[in-house]
Amino acid sequence: MDKTEKIWLNGKLVDWADAKVHVLAHALNYGTGVFEGIRVYQTPKGPAVFRLKDHVRRLVDGCKMMGFKLEFGGKEYGEKVICEAIKDAVRANGTAVDYIKPCVFLSGEETGLNPVKVPVSFAITCVHMGNYLGKDADAGAKLITSSWQRPDNLCGPAGAKVNGAYVTSTLAKREAISHGANEAVMLNSVGHVAECTGENIFMYRHGKILTPQSAESILEGITRDSVIKIAREMGYDVLETQISRFDLISSDEVWMTGTAAEIAPVTCIDGRPIGTGKIGEVSQKIHARFHDIATGKVPEYECWLDYVN
Ligand SMILES: Cc1ncc(COP(=O)(O)O)c(C=O)c1O
Repeated sequence: MDKTEKIWLNGKLVDWADAKVHVLAHALNYGTGVFEGIRVYQTPKGPAVFRLKDHVRRLVDGCKMMGFKLEFGGKEYGEKVICEAIKDAVRANGTAVDYIKPCVFLSGEETGLNPVKVPVSFAITCVHMGNYLGKDADAGAKLITSSWQRPDNLCGPAGAKVNGAYVTSTLAKREAISHGANEAVMLNSVGHVAECTGENIFMYRHGKILTPQSAESILEGITRDSVIKIAREMGYDVLETQISRFDLISSDEVWMTGTAAEIAPVTCIDGRPIGTGKIGEVSQKIHARFHDIATGKVPEYECWLDYVN
């Protein structure tokens, strides 16, 4: 990750080094925040934010779940105003920006758990992220099955990006790295495949594309939704269903989808090769189409792009 110059904080653009919180901020101690990760792509019409309205809708829904009031500097922040603030933050940081991280969090100083009446802040950070999984994963990512379970809806709102819930993802990610893998796939509380630490998962087997259904305690990824739509349009059968660890390991292809990782093929899980052990054709075709759409080369999908300028 490369830093940028300005961070949008509660309605003002401040220098990167000045965007600070107190050590007793409620969010720092209890994980009380909701965040997003959004990509910016370079297109012939300049930088465009990919599926901005969908990301903002998920952020606002998460804040509603957490009971956060979206009012900063005396101004109410509805979805449209948030979209504009995000574009302002991108504009303020030049053309290197490829990833935006908005975060609404309880910034007030508080020792107790009670979140009611703790002041809320809203930060929008822009960075240059590049390749999220690292060069090592370019020829196909290696996965382990994590010993950590994907938290379900009884542990918190699985469909919202709540900061504190990501402790499990960081444990699983650490576990993957310590085993020489790039990512970890997490099973849910009934042992079905759920998703990776920051990505959804897809498989191709017996001529069909399968991905865990939303009831499997997954985050309903926006890239997941894009891939389902693109794959169906390309003529593939896509099923949202239950997937076992056996199904996954015996598939012809596996790939992950996420804003940060984009479409990342998987060639090995728990030391076993997936299919031929090389990047598969289906994920490559979908990736190529996704890339054309995100970089503004497909007029029918312009509605997924929010131009910054
Ligand atoms: C746990 C988890 N699953 C899946 C995803 C993929 O979601 P999206 O495609 O909306 O980035 C993310 C990233 O936001 C995530 O954090």
